[in-house]
Amino acid sequence: MTAGALFDEAAGGYDEARRLVPGLDTLYAALLQSIPFGVDEQIKVLDLGAGTGLLSAEISTRFPRARVTLIDLSVEMLRVARRRFAGEPHRFEFRVMDFARKDLPEGYDLVVSALSIHHLTDGDKRETFEKVYGALVPGGLFVNLDQVLGASPEEEARYEEWWLRRVREAGASEEELAGAFRRMRADRNATLADQLRWLEEAGFEGVECAHGDHRFAVYGGRKGIASSYNGKERHG
Ligand SMILES: C[S@@+](CC[C@H](N)C(=O)[O-])C[C@H]1O[C@@H](n2cnc3c(N)ncnc32)[C@H](O)[C@@H]1O
Repeated sequence: MTAGALFDEAAGGYDEARRLVPGLDTLYAALLQSIPFGVDEQIKVLDLGAGTGLLSAEISTRFPRARVTLIDLSVEMLRVARRRFAGEPHRFEFRVMDFARKDLPEGYDLVVSALSIHHLTDGDKRETFEKVYGALVPGGLFVNLDQVLGASPEEEARYEEWWLRRVREAGASEEELAGAFRRMRADRNATLADQLRWLEEAGFEGVECAHGDHRFAVYGGRKGIASSYNGKERHG
């Protein structure tokens, strides 16, 4: 089953499945904290794999003058996002497309992505990082919140055990877990170290991980500004 079909199927109950990402609120908060723009700035934002719009909602609340383009290949996920933002049609634009296969629109101050790029092959991840670089204006920022692969089989086993324990503690039902395992078959996680290197190779500066917790990390870089991108925190 393709990622699009898997997420079309999951769209209806997706927002309730947030507990499948342990510490999601902290991860979103770390992503928001790493964005250096003033809250009143009229920034242009691109959200790759925006799904039902959870991250776009966080960003548009923090930056009330931001305009956001949401890209996703799942019609059904974007249908939920369109409903979420129906009250402010001038601020949000929706594009059903595969960001790994098509050119990205350009001229963005900020490109974000959450829990999406790990679905791509490593080659497509690298190409996507290059395209994101091209989509940003000079001084623009890219922040990705995503799953990462353990750096060794032992670390990967530890991430797996940690995830299962945390989602069970959070009350995930066996049915929810079965759905998550189905979707995880489409995962192609890469290590954080590889992805930070690919970002640098794509031209990003100040590349670093702002926050990490076992399987999940928030990382990115800037286009054309030598200064380091905010924050440093990593657990596990
Ligand atoms: C786990 S959801 C995350 C949604 C949202 N970013 C969030 O934080 O709630 C991953 C989303 O990425 C989308 N996706 C995966 N690969 C994609 C691709 N190549 N192009 C566009 N969307 C993609 C899926 O359709 C799905 O909606």
